[in-house]
Amino acid sequence: MPAEMRRTMNQIEEIKKLKEEKDAVILAHYYVEGEVQAIADYVGDSYALSKLATTLSAKNIIFCGVKFMGESAKILNPQKTVVMADEDADCPMAHMVDIETIEKVRSENPDVCVVCYVNSTAEIKSHSDVCVTSSNAIRIVKSLPNQKIFFIPDNNLGHYVSTQVPEKDFIFHDGFCHVHKSIEKENVLAAKKAHPEALVLTHPECTHDVLEISDFIGSTSEIIDYAAASDKNTFIICTEMGIFYELGQKNPDKKFYSVGHRQFCPNMKRITLDKVAAALRTLSPEVVLDDELASKANLPLSRMLELAK
Ligand code: 13P
Ligand code: SF4
Repeated sequence: MPAEMRRTMNQIEEIKKLKEEKDAVILAHYYVEGEVQAIADYVGDSYALSKLATTLSAKNIIFCGVKFMGESAKILNPQKTVVMADEDADCPMAHMVDIETIEKVRSENPDVCVVCYVNSTAEIKSHSDVCVTSSNAIRIVKSLPNQKIFFIPDNNLGHYVSTQVPEKDFIFHDGFCHVHKSIEKENVLAAKKAHPEALVLTHPECTHDVLEISDFIGSTSEIIDYAAASDKNTFIICTEMGIFYELGQKNPDKKFYSVGHRQFCPNMKRITLDKVAAALRTLSPEVVLDDELASKANLPLSRMLELAK
């Protein structure tokens, strides 16, 4: 057996052993490397992972994802230890809106509801009325009593939600995901030309002109479910490439194509088996939040879980 393969197998064995010893459970997002998804106890989209975090009995959660995801798990489970596999894995979009902007919009629009995409810091959540993820945003925005919505921080997701909830008035922010924004219409058209039989499945963080030429728009888990349920065999995938692991696992006979080399989130890809093993060994770096901040940020997150039921 090649040395590299032996090393990986040893690491997997160590991770399994440590999980038991430390009473830990590993949660991973679909965008992390396949080998990390393979050793996780649960893999999901950001909504599924935050919901799941509230139901686990293990004392320690090892989070394989970006910082806002680990923070959400901690905010919803203050009594548990949440450990980041890599504390520097952070989503740039989470920092694209500031509190002054929120307060300014509130002062100019007293009845506004501040709807915060979970891809945001705990501090931003603590100044918001409700959180949403890409899989529940439409349902939640529809259910809100407010006519006016300030959707932060993702501009593309906000616009997409507004097309599905035309009865409400939206104020948008200018945040974006650099990974999804870099998928261009021309890339998708070229992939469609190369695979004319394929359906295009797209994450709503992509730009409007990409959404327009897509056959299905949904969160990562909705894309996975759609591909599995479809009677078609070929798909072009417009989201981060980590999703190809689960798509392949669930659909070994179907074909999935990317639209180019830029479907890569460098932050999600920071997480390696080495780092997961180290996090388990040391139960650090732990997510630590100020109590008052955590309890304020808990309100919009818990409201999301309630409204998404
Ligand atoms: P999901 O809500 O589909 O998990 O997406 C999270 C994310 O970071 C998208 O870029
Ligand atoms: Fe953030 Fe985009 Fe990476 Fe998702 S894919 S974590 S939105 S940078």
